[in-house]
Parts: sequence; C-alpha cells; structure tokens
Amino acid sequence: MMLIDSGDIDLSVGEGSRSERLFHAIRSKIVANLWKKNNQLPSTRKLALELGVSRNTVIHAYEQLVAEGYIESRRGSGYYVAVKLPEHYFPAQSVAPSGTSDYVLKNASANITNQAFSPGVADFSTFPYRQWQAIINCHLSRPTLMGFHDEQGWLELREALSQYLASNRSVCCDASRIIITSGAQQALSIALLATQDKGDQIAMECPGYARMKGVIDVLGYQYQPVNVAPFTGLDIESIQSMSAKLLYITPSNQYPMGTSLNTEQRLELINWAVTNNRYIIEDDYDSEFQFAHRPYTSMQGLAGKMGQDSQIIYVGSFSKVMFNGLRLGYMVVPNQLVSSCVALKAALSGDSPTHLQAALADFIRDGSLVRHIRRMRRLYEQKYQLMVQNIKELWGNDVEICSQAAGLHITLRWWQGIDEHHWAQLAENEGIIIRPMSYYDSLSSKQRGWKGAVLGFGNVAEADIESLLTSLRRLFLQGIAL
Ligand SMILES: Cc1ncc(COP(=O)(O)O)c(C=O)c1O
Repeated sequence: MMLIDSGDIDLSVGEGSRSERLFHAIRSKIVANLWKKNNQLPSTRKLALELGVSRNTVIHAYEQLVAEGYIESRRGSGYYVAVKLPEHYFPAQSVAPSGTSDYVLKNASANITNQAFSPGVADFSTFPYRQWQAIINCHLSRPTLMGFHDEQGWLELREALSQYLASNRSVCCDASRIIITSGAQQALSIALLATQDKGDQIAMECPGYARMKGVIDVLGYQYQPVNVAPFTGLDIESIQSMSAKLLYITPSNQYPMGTSLNTEQRLELINWAVTNNRYIIEDDYDSEFQFAHRPYTSMQGLAGKMGQDSQIIYVGSFSKVMFNGLRLGYMVVPNQLVSSCVALKAALSGDSPTHLQAALADFIRDGSLVRHIRRMRRLYEQKYQLMVQNIKELWGNDVEICSQAAGLHITLRWWQGIDEHHWAQLAENEGIIIRPMSYYDSLSSKQRGWKGAVLGFGNVAEADIESLLTSLRRLFLQGIAL
C-alpha cells in the first residue's frame, strides 16, 4: 500500500463545480493507472487544505468516486483506490526512436533479470544481510549524511577502497585518484568522455561486454572490434596497427570468453599505450573470483610499479563482490584525468548515495568485505565445479566449455546442433535465461563458424544446478529434433 499525494491536481481549469472538477481529476489519475489499486488517498481534511477548497467539496467528490466504484472507503482507515483496470487502459509500450543502433536496441530489449543462469548476477542467498542492515542503520540517523557531498565520492570510502585495491589487486593509487560511480557502467562513460572526442574510434574486445558496446553507440563513438578467440584470447598483434586511441579490455577474465592475459601480454599492451600515447580501460569486474590459480596483478598495478600508469584507467564494481542492486562502482584514474573525470561525474549524476557509501566504507574497513569475498569464492568455486561436472555428464562431447575456471559464468561452444538463439528462446519460455553468443558479438553463428552461449551460475542454488541443466539439455536436444 502506498500513500497518494495530491501531486499536480489542478482545479483552476475545467468545467463544472469544484467538486465535479475534483471528481474528474481523480478519476483520470485512476484510469491512467497513475493512482494504483489499494493505494491510499489523502484524507478529506488534508486534501481540502492542500487544494484550498472546503472539506465538503472533497467529501462530495470522494462520495461520487465511491458510488462509481473507483475508490472505496475503509472504516477508520480512509479512502483507497478500488479499481484494477483492464489491460486495454494501459498506454502502449513506447517505440524506440528511429536511428537507435541495432546493438543498443538488442541490449535494451534483452531480458534483464535475476533468474537462473542469467549472467553476472551475484548469489543473494548468502549475503550477510543482518550485518549490512546494522551498518546501514548506524548511518541512517546521521544528519550530516543527508546533504550534498563530494561528487568524487565519500572520502572514507575512497580511502578504504584504495587500501583494499592496493592489497588485493596491487592497484597503485590513493584516495585522490578514485572516483565513486554509479556502477562500473557510469565509470565507462566517464572514461570515454574524459579522453575521447565524439566520433573517435574505440577499440574493444569482440565478443565483448555488451553494455560497453552500448556506451560506445549511445555516446557517438566508432566501434573498432578486436578479435577474442576461444582459449587463445585477445588478438594483441592486431592492436598494434589500430588507429583507435583507446582500448577497452577485461584482461583478468575476458567477458564473455573467459580468457586472461598473462604478464607478458599485459606488458606488451602497457608499452603500446605508453609509447603511442593511447589509453587503456582495464575493467577488473570479477577478478576476486579466480579458482584455478592466483589472479594476475592488475595491469594498472603492473604499470604503476614501472611508473607507467599514466595511460591506464582502472574500473571496478561492487556488483559481483556485494550485489548488483547496490549500483556502486569506481574508477582509478591517472592524475591528469582526475579533475575532468570528477567534473563529468558531477555533470552526469552529481554525488552518489552517501548513506550507502558510508556503510560500504565501514564494511570494507572492518574486514567484512574480505570475509564475504573469501566465503563467496569458495561457494562460487563449488558451483563452478558442479556446473562443469553436470555439463560433462549431460552433454558429453556435444559442447565444449571454453571459459576458464573463474567468475560467475561458464561459456559454451558447439558446432553441431541447436541454433544459439533458438536454445535461448526455448529456455526463456521455461524461465531460464541463457545468453546467445551473438548478444556479445553481433555475428551469426554461420559467420563465426561455431555456436555459443553464456550461462551465469552466481545466483543459482547448488541444489538446483543439476535439474536446471537437465532441462537445458532436454531443450538442446528438442531444438535439434525440429
Ligand atoms: C564486463 C563487466 N564489467 C562490469 C560489470 C559491472 O557493471 P556494474 O558495476 O555497472 O553493475 C559487469 C557486470 O556484469 C561486467 O560483466
């Protein structure tokens, strides 16, 4: 139940008595589904005061609305919207403006959900809710947090984060070089706007992170794909001859192919950026979850050790290590970009939610984040093993797992059998979300020579993995039979 506010009701226009005008104004709110079933209307006294009319005027309007079934009076409680409108009353879905790129449209319509196998979703069942709630509660009653604050981000959070990043990812920074953003997503936009002119070419991995492709399209840059092959990864050689002045990569767990760059490859790219005065965005979105080996030092940290981090923009997110809905991410930028990036952050969204930032700073400082990550690393590794075991048992040689043992997803490829889109569609009909490879590369499987799909296991309970994969196998075979 929500309380309805009188909002923009205006009785100065229209025909009839004030009471009739009020009746029509409220009825049109209900018919337009702006005031929804079971929501509580303002009391007659309050509404009369707000609209500057007599209480009788409001009472008459309410009585008429009750008589016609739009609202109901509940004894001792007040008036509530009573009508559940049939579908045809709702406005049709808006249509995207012409000129919107295919890629953006495809991703806008992609089913963003937290259902089974939807990639990129963290486990929600094991989050330390009570502890997080207690920390948040401590900050909720602090009046100082309620005003405007530094657009760069809450200083205590930036300080805690700089220590976390230094000790866990060898990132070379202090708080003055960190900008807190609305997820990694915003950091990616800021990084492009701060370093590139409209129309410039941006090199990025292909297949690659679809939302980064969306940023490139929407901000009016040119997309220059760099091939990522299964197992062997990024085509570094081709980068040497590219004219793009910025390269976006996910070097520790390439999304979605699940390859990683070794130290030699990282050094080669750092050298390319430094000698040619190019920028690299290092998206380090899930490197805390490496299961087979120790994670590689971040490229930013590697470059920093050599005093060469002036060309690296390091981007991170709390979506995987905490939860997606937190919408907090960050960027570590070279000194020369700090002021322009902060100005862009200020212009795009102002400051970030301060209570959440203050709570997160505590969560990092008291060791809770690291404890949570350790626990989740064990859990995700178990889920990963279960996924691999079941995929091998169910599919045998029909599919190949091409992603490394890391992160929250598994990438499959196959040559014979169901079309990747068809499989995703059949799965979606049963409430299972898998992403066809073309979501990440815009290529049909014919052009690519193989078919692929990405399965996220982060938010799938261990106990459900076998049965969900069994359903997927059934659909896989069903698709071949057609
Ligand atoms: C490659 C990549 N980068 C970054 C992110 C995190 O983005 P955000 O912080 O906006 O949730 C994701 C999430 O799925 C991702 O896959």
